[in-house]
Amino acid sequence: MKVGVLGAGQLGRMLALAGYPLGLKFLFLDPTPDAPAGQVAEQIVAPWDDPKALDALAHTDVVSYEFESVPDIAARTLAERVPVWPPPASLAVAQDRLREKEAFRELGIATAPFAAVDSEAELARAVSEIGTPAVLKTRRLGYDGKGQYVLRSAADVPKAWAAIGGVPLLLEGFVSFSRELSVLGVRGQDGRTAFYPLVENEHERGILRISRAPAPSTEPKLQARAETMSRSLLEYLGHVGVLALELFDVNGELYANEIAPRVHNSGHWTIEGARTSQFENHLRAISGLPLGDTSALGPAAMVNLLGEVPSPARLLALPDVHLHDYGKQPRPDRKVGHVTLRAPDFATLDARIADVQALLAAKNT
Ligand SMILES: Nc1ncnc2c1ncn2[C@@H]1O[C@H](COP(=O)(O)OP(=O)(O)O)[C@@H](O)[C@H]1O
Ligand SMILES: [Mg+2]
Repeated sequence: MKVGVLGAGQLGRMLALAGYPLGLKFLFLDPTPDAPAGQVAEQIVAPWDDPKALDALAHTDVVSYEFESVPDIAARTLAERVPVWPPPASLAVAQDRLREKEAFRELGIATAPFAAVDSEAELARAVSEIGTPAVLKTRRLGYDGKGQYVLRSAADVPKAWAAIGGVPLLLEGFVSFSRELSVLGVRGQDGRTAFYPLVENEHERGILRISRAPAPSTEPKLQARAETMSRSLLEYLGHVGVLALELFDVNGELYANEIAPRVHNSGHWTIEGARTSQFENHLRAISGLPLGDTSALGPAAMVNLLGEVPSPARLLALPDVHLHDYGKQPRPDRKVGHVTLRAPDFATLDARIADVQALLAAKNT
C-alpha cells in the first residue's frame, strides 16, 4: 500500500518512519527541496497545484496531508480520484479560524467570544462588543502565534489594524486560562474512535515549548469532557485520522481554541510514551486498519528544539531522553527537532525537563 502525502515537513517524516514497519510506502509532495520527509522517502518537488504531481499522488492508494495550509483545492481535486483522509471538509474548517469557531458554536463546544473583522471600523465595533484584552488573528495561514496581535485596550485598534489588517481577520476575547491542554482523537474508517490522554502544553511567544502527558493533576471528568468535544468534532467532520483539539483550561472549564486535522506537535511524546504513536494510529486509520491502544506508558514530556539541534552526545547522556532531529537547516525559533523524556513519576520528569532546559540554555550562551 502506498500513501500519498501533501506536505513533507517533520510530521510527514515521522509518519513515514511510523509507516515502514507496517509495510507502507510513501510519496510526498512539497515545493521545498530536501524537506524533512523527502530525506527518508520519495518526494516530488513541485507546486501544490502541479498537475503532473497531483496525478502521481492520485495513483497512490490513499492520500493524506501533514501541512494545514495546502490549498484545499489540491485535496478536493485529489478526492475525486483517490480516497483522501482526513476528508477535505476537515481541512477547509481547520484552515479558517472563523469556520472553526462557528463549528464549535454549532456543536455546543465552549469557546471565547469571537467576531469576523474585515475593516478597521469592524475591528473597532468588535472590540467594543467583545471587550479587552482581545486577540486579533488572521483567519488563514497563522501558525506558532504568527499573524496575531493582542489588544490591551480600544486605543490599540489602529496599531492592531496596521500590524495585520488587510486580510480576513477574527477577533477573539482573551481567555485567562489556568493552563493549556490538548486532546488528540483518532477516528477509523469504521467510525470507531480512540483518544489519547490530555496533554498539558506550555507555549512561549505563541510557540509550543513543552508538553507533559498525561496532563498532571487531571480529573477523569476533565478527560471525559475533552473526549466528548473531540468525538463530536470527529463525527461532525466525518473525520478519519488524527484530529488535535487545543483547549484552554479555566479552573476546570474547557474552552476550545483551535483544531488541527492531522498529527500534532503536542502528540510527539506518543512515539516513546504511548502504546501506539499518533503517527501509527493516523496511518492505521487512513488505511482502514484497526486502531491501536492510545494509553500512556507512564509520565512523558516533549521538549521542542528551536533554532538548532544541540549536541546529541550531551542530550543523550541524560537518562531516558530520546532525540528526534528533523534534518532542517537552523533558523531562529524554527522547530528543528524535539526530545522525549520519560520518568517513573512527575517529580522526576520535571527534574529531567529542567536538565534538558539547562543544557539547551547553556548552548545558547
Ligand atoms: N483567545 C486567546 N486567549 C488567550 N491566549 C490565546 C488566545 N488565542 C491564542 N492564545 C495564545 O496564543 C497561542 C497560539 O494561538 P493559536 O490560536 O493556537 O494559534 P496558532 O495557530 O499560531 O497555534 C495559544 O496556544 C495561546 O497560548
Ligand atoms: Mg495553536
